[in-house]
Amino acid sequence: MPDTQLREVRQPKAHDSAIKQITGEARYIDDQREPAGLLHCYPGKASIASGKVVAMDLSAVAAAPGVVSLIKVADIPGKNDCSPIFGDDPIISEGQITFHGQVIFAVLAETRDQARWAAQLAKVEYEEEKAFISVEQANSNDSTVLPDYQMGRGDVVVDLAKASNRLQGHLEIGGQDHFYLEGHVSMVEPGEDGDMLVHCSTQHPTEAQHQVADCLGVPHHAVEVRIRRMGGGFGGKESQSGQWACLAAIGAKMTGHPVKIRLDRDDDMILTGKRHEFEASYDVGFDNQGRIEAIDLTLLGRCGHSADLSGAICDRAMMHSDNAYFLPSVAIHSRRLRTHTVSNTAFRGFGGPQGVLSIERVMDHIASSLGIDALEVRKVNLYGDEGRNTTPYEMEVFDNIAPELIEQLEASSNYQNRRAEVVEFNRKNKYLKKGLSLTPVKFGISFTATHMNQAGALVHVYGDGSIGLNHGGTEMGQGLYVKVAQVVADSFGIDLERVKITSTTTAKVPNTSPTAASSGADLNGMAAKIAADEIRGRLAEFAAGLFQASKDDVRFENNEVVVGTERLDFTDLVKKAIFARVSLSSTGYYKTPEIQWDVATGTGKPFFYFAYGAAVSEVTIDCFTGEYKVDRVDILHDVGHSLNPAIDKGQIEGGFIQGMGWLTTEELKWDDKGRLRTHAPSTYKIPTATDTPDVFNVDLFKGDGNRAETIYRSKAVGEPPLMLGIAVFSALTNAVVNATGRMPKLNAPATPEAVLLALRDGDYLV
Ligand code: MTE
Ligand code: HPA
Ligand code: MOS
Repeated sequence: MPDTQLREVRQPKAHDSAIKQITGEARYIDDQREPAGLLHCYPGKASIASGKVVAMDLSAVAAAPGVVSLIKVADIPGKNDCSPIFGDDPIISEGQITFHGQVIFAVLAETRDQARWAAQLAKVEYEEEKAFISVEQANSNDSTVLPDYQMGRGDVVVDLAKASNRLQGHLEIGGQDHFYLEGHVSMVEPGEDGDMLVHCSTQHPTEAQHQVADCLGVPHHAVEVRIRRMGGGFGGKESQSGQWACLAAIGAKMTGHPVKIRLDRDDDMILTGKRHEFEASYDVGFDNQGRIEAIDLTLLGRCGHSADLSGAICDRAMMHSDNAYFLPSVAIHSRRLRTHTVSNTAFRGFGGPQGVLSIERVMDHIASSLGIDALEVRKVNLYGDEGRNTTPYEMEVFDNIAPELIEQLEASSNYQNRRAEVVEFNRKNKYLKKGLSLTPVKFGISFTATHMNQAGALVHVYGDGSIGLNHGGTEMGQGLYVKVAQVVADSFGIDLERVKITSTTTAKVPNTSPTAASSGADLNGMAAKIAADEIRGRLAEFAAGLFQASKDDVRFENNEVVVGTERLDFTDLVKKAIFARVSLSSTGYYKTPEIQWDVATGTGKPFFYFAYGAAVSEVTIDCFTGEYKVDRVDILHDVGHSLNPAIDKGQIEGGFIQGMGWLTTEELKWDDKGRLRTHAPSTYKIPTATDTPDVFNVDLFKGDGNRAETIYRSKAVGEPPLMLGIAVFSALTNAVVNATGRMPKLNAPATPEAVLLALRDGDYLV
């Protein structure tokens, strides 16, 4: 459909839940009216990081007020596993403890407070074993969850030896807690024949369905997972929401009562995985302009006690450690380290941000060693024409708009003048120093696991001309539901308000992928369009028959059907169609074309296309205290031809701020016993509204658009903008360089404390 015929797509429609969320009418799982007889479940946690349970006395737990029953491993009727892939995540530990906080039993009580209270009364004896907590400990002991992996091309050893200049460096990259406003929650209602209706705050209803069915030992058809919305997911509910659904389901099966489980904030932070900490080490050769000749990069990922999604996450980190730059001779090594800590998981960007940050640090390091502006180094390294347009995994960067996008942002942000002003400011000020940085983002769109790039939808047209829309995607605040509804409305030429957005459920669309990899609108938008267009085709044929016209002459616009000079209200056509026995319901199915990946060689086309963006950040640091301020941010981001520019802008702003939080104030600390010491907002600082930069200019790139045939030529927007936050980290690095005249040992997050230490630290990067 040409753009001129679009009435809803491309419009800045409000999020369908915006008003309801503000007034409090939007229902989350914990807002649902509780069914009679509801019991509350709460997990009991291990208090060591590594070892065996020798004895467990739960008598005080069982005797506590309100306690109805206990759930132990032996009570699990089916499989004791809630892992996404490898079968290595017990729902309840079978005696071996692999991280501090691991679930060792659960309580069912009449109230949640009673269950929580009782869960701490267990008396457990352990035999402690050696624990690896840090990346260093795991790496030096070769403790891994999955085999090492490499990719690259050329003879890096030879090319490094030949390079004009050479540098080595090391960067520690902190993890990140998802800090969704709604923590993990599930409520399970048992039905007849052992069926279970599972309300689960999850990005992956199908996986939760499978896990619940498998742990109960019942067929998948006996379990329905339903979710209207999450209060944020950010990847934290891609693979780790099933455990809570399983516990509630086991409790429901044992007692015949409905069961709810809602972790409190501290336990949510202790018991569920986060963004992977990484350590990046590089050895890079480059010419006198800073153009990379060869690079050897090692990425150590801290996976935690089990594999979870770490394989794909570490792969994506590797596939993004080129970012927007051509690396002619390159070796990327990845280690997937096992530590006795919670199993790390998906988090917006899925390893990509750690890869991008690594190469951006290399850019900053090269620039400081040559004494030139880092933007010049970045520009000479960008992907370019033939010969400089293939990634380390041999995919052609066929849609490279980075040079043009950067040029536009450099001009619109007045970069060059401001660079001169920064130099002037720093000359005049001894204790306040400014830094400025422009960093790009190139992010691959598609699940790297090719089979996951599929989606289904179900569309019904009802007798009054209203539409029921369902698809496999979940809503976590990102605006997926409204975007897909806009697509469906335009298929029928009707107002958006006529499309009912319904809860995601495994009973309507089966075998879905998680809503992740930013692919929600790309996949489900296409599937829904295919379903809607199928019905529209039937209606068009029927209308053509009514007016003795050709099907191709039938148009759907302005809530009417137009055939030549005849017009009919859409509702009237629908009524006539039902009377004439035309089927007005259809499924739609979509799979992403062209993509493929060869694990053995580490090459292929894993991504359908790339999304691009860039940000300029200006910061001022106080050299006495290390405190700093983000003075101004300019963003230019590519969403292709936007389905909904208001939603997309919101994603860009939110993504940037979340990325900035990751690299500035959000700091996770485990002690040497493996206890997470930062498990509440009192000790873990996420950005708030007042952390928005004073000047925050966000624009959508108006360029060549999308060369890939996506839904209405839009581009995925969910994750890529998180990496725009790297501009703040890079600007802080630049400010320290400007203050001290040398490259600092500044790791992420660059908290004020870290900035102060970097200013004081005499060490060069080694
Ligand atoms: N935006 C909001 N408001 N809340 C979220 O939880 N998750 C992010 C991103 N934007 C998230 C969000 C992540 S991790 C992904 S993968 C995408 O949204 C998923 O949705 P999409 O594929 O529909 O963009
Ligand atoms: N991104 C996000 N989630 C995923 C991916 C991916 O590439 N692969 C498997 N789960
Ligand atoms: Mo997003 S990390 O792919 O859920």
